[in-house]
Amino acid sequence: MDIEKIRADFPYLDSKKVGKDVIYLDTAATSQKPKEVIDAVDNYYKYQNANPHRGAHYLSFVATTAYENSRDKIKEYIGAKNREEVIFTRNATEALNLIAYSYALENLKANDEILITILEHHANLVPWQIVAKKTGAKLVYAYLNEDYSLNYEDLKNKINEKTKIVSFTGASNVTGEIIDIKKIVNWAHEAGAIAIVDGSQLTPHLKIDLSDLDCDFYVFSGHKLLSPMGIGVLYGKKALLEKMNPFLTGGDMIEYVYEQESSFASLPYKFEAGTQNVGGAIGLAKAIEYMEKIGLDEIYKYESDLTRHAYNFIKDYPHIKIFYPENSKTGAVLSFTYDDIHPHDIASILDNSGIAVRSGHHCAMPLHKYLGISASARASFAFYNTKEEAEIFAKELLNVRKVMGL
Ligand code: ALA
Repeated sequence: MDIEKIRADFPYLDSKKVGKDVIYLDTAATSQKPKEVIDAVDNYYKYQNANPHRGAHYLSFVATTAYENSRDKIKEYIGAKNREEVIFTRNATEALNLIAYSYALENLKANDEILITILEHHANLVPWQIVAKKTGAKLVYAYLNEDYSLNYEDLKNKINEKTKIVSFTGASNVTGEIIDIKKIVNWAHEAGAIAIVDGSQLTPHLKIDLSDLDCDFYVFSGHKLLSPMGIGVLYGKKALLEKMNPFLTGGDMIEYVYEQESSFASLPYKFEAGTQNVGGAIGLAKAIEYMEKIGLDEIYKYESDLTRHAYNFIKDYPHIKIFYPENSKTGAVLSFTYDDIHPHDIASILDNSGIAVRSGHHCAMPLHKYLGISASARASFAFYNTKEEAEIFAKELLNVRKVMGL
């Protein structure tokens, strides 16, 4: 990988803060965007902008074609069998809510069980709390091993005949662990449950193939994957989606509308009410093309090596605790605390050196409570970060103690 060439594609990475080169280590919250993506979105709004599926005029045809070609690109990238199985949403959160409202509320009843892991961020947790409250189903958690890795045995033991949904992250946004999706999907199916995978932190880093993973639903957001905010994807198996009622209703998702009732459009449009984010869909397809040009396998190897490189630097620092399952397959995230410095102070001091890390609960409050902390600091890496940046981060992190007078 030619890192310097790649970095030149990302305008922000060439910026300075407090006279120093910026070091962006918050890709797990949202990625930076390459020029190719920005230009594709810009070009859409300049020359292709019209309401898709709604005009007999030429420009509407252009917008419709660009939107639908983006769907085909995404279908191919995630290994879906049918283009009807790819539904555009605003983000992973909306996609998970769609499943919760249109599938789970209709199919679950009292005493059924929904199994998730303690690793989940709120998008794959709060909707299940709502479903559990409304249906009387029980929300069950699988927990971690001592080394912060997912306890697969605990998870397996909690799947039983009452389990109707197993919903889990493909990669943790706090520990960085990459989950063995296929194993859990098989366990869920053996028990007659459906399996939902939150691919928010996985899709931007690792090639996935849904025809092999066989999960029933898969969701991800575009903004963590080099594309604009406000575009996301729900993949669902056609047989399930066909039986589900629409989530949002209104324009474009209908077949006929009468005064008192309506019939609905076929897939995928049944789930795409209102004018869609065509620019976002184009940006997402372009982002995928961009990553494919670099090579998904190369990206994963580079990022996980880089993260381990940073981990090896900081793991023996005094007073630091790193929530990193070093013996597991991991991605591009390192979360940590100092026992005597608040994570917000760590982030502010690093920010003064031009280094952006996230601090807080990372939308995973139950996980932080389970780990016995209220917050952590998190450095998350991407293929546009360098070894040198990882080393500067490590050096400045050690310096935080000095700045705090410790
Ligand atoms: N869930 C996102 C994160 O990990 C926002 O930062």
